[in-house]
Amino acid sequence: MKKALLTGITGQDGSFLAEFLLEKGYEVHGVIRRSSSYNQERLEEILTEAEAGILFNNENFHLHYGDVTDTSNVIRLIGDIRPDEIYNLAAQSHVRVSFDMPGYTLDVDGKGTLNILEAVRILGLTEKTRIYQASTSELFGKVQEVPQKETTPFYPRSPYGVAKIYGYWITKNYRESYNMFAVNGILFNHESERRGETFVTRKITLAAARIVQGKQKKLMLGNLDSLRDWGYAKDYVECMWLILQHDTPEDFVIATGEMHSVREFVELSFKHVGIEIEWSGQGVEEKGVNKATGEVIVEVDPKFFRPSEVEQLLGDPTKSRTLLGWNPTKTPFDELVRIMVKADMRKVEKEDKVKKMFD
Ligand code: NAP
Ligand code: GDD
Repeated sequence: MKKALLTGITGQDGSFLAEFLLEKGYEVHGVIRRSSSYNQERLEEILTEAEAGILFNNENFHLHYGDVTDTSNVIRLIGDIRPDEIYNLAAQSHVRVSFDMPGYTLDVDGKGTLNILEAVRILGLTEKTRIYQASTSELFGKVQEVPQKETTPFYPRSPYGVAKIYGYWITKNYRESYNMFAVNGILFNHESERRGETFVTRKITLAAARIVQGKQKKLMLGNLDSLRDWGYAKDYVECMWLILQHDTPEDFVIATGEMHSVREFVELSFKHVGIEIEWSGQGVEEKGVNKATGEVIVEVDPKFFRPSEVEQLLGDPTKSRTLLGWNPTKTPFDELVRIMVKADMRKVEKEDKVKKMFD
């Protein structure tokens, strides 16, 4: 039985990857941070099923307190577990927040990565343990070619992107210096019903569900022209695993090869709840109007603009498709939006039911 250690297991990707690896028969270890409030909602499917003994043996799933910035904690955990595979998903992953907390973002996203690589080296596990580093399309930032592939030069545009570039290069450096199986998955945006609520896609799908159910009046957004290559997180975690199973340690771009604007994401989300949006005005004056009622339901608020923006990202998944046999368009864009809206419609309905029970 293979052992995997996941940092960032409480996040979107960590929770999907944990489920995927358990189904593959792995013993899964996850690092969770101490928090004053409960932070394991995304793991509830695993925890409930494990407790009920339905799918997974409890003994195959272990959570440990830790933090990637705590060097001694990282060394102790890796030394105790001696994993075959480490997936370093831990990050301060919000680009806008990284402008407010650049130092902290560097500590977690940069130094945190080094801590893991160093721990594996110091503990003499370089031949046993394979390491996956969660790199990002934010490295391409102000894109130098379209579409972006493994050889495209980097030009990060945020403290997050700059911190992640350290993670990328130190991973490559340890691979070349110490002959380690340490690799980067350069993942483009991937979303799901488990996406954090302050990322643009989830903010939109949740707002569409709340607006149609009369629980919210308006959706306030920043740059509507921004273009992203959005895929489904559940498909992307499979690729993380495939990258670590490849014969040779190599870096891969993971993307769908399709690009859509924030404006399109808004239109489609509202379409799925039966609302047609009509746009009027321009720039900060642009508004999204409910065609049937004439109500303004989407507005621009400059507070969501970033000091420097990544205007467009479009990935070229040729390498991952040909070498890993991965299907980049398993979940098409329209289906991704539908999955997210459907989940948020249920979530809002459930909140409403609970509220009515106690009103
Ligand atoms: P996410 O939902 O924000 O999850 C981040 C995870 O990291 C959470 O479990 C968080 O724990 C944990 N974490 C944060 N700081 C930590 C620290 N100091 N020590 C240990 N754990 C820490 O992110 P995601 O969307 O799943 O993304 C996973 C990884 O892929 C991240 O590294 C992200 O930068 C990268 N990535 C994401 C995308 C994307 O589109 N989703 C694309 C490219 C790359 P708490 O729950 O306690 O906060
Ligand atoms: N969050 C947010 N909120 N973004 C908005 C909003 C808003 O109200 N309005 C417009 N946007 C625009 C942002 O300016 C950005 O251009 C785009 O929507 C996507 O923003 P996010 O969903 O916050 O994601 P991101 O692209 O900045 O970063 C995500 O993807 C990266 C991979 O490219 C994160 O998951 C990163 O961790 C990841 O590395």
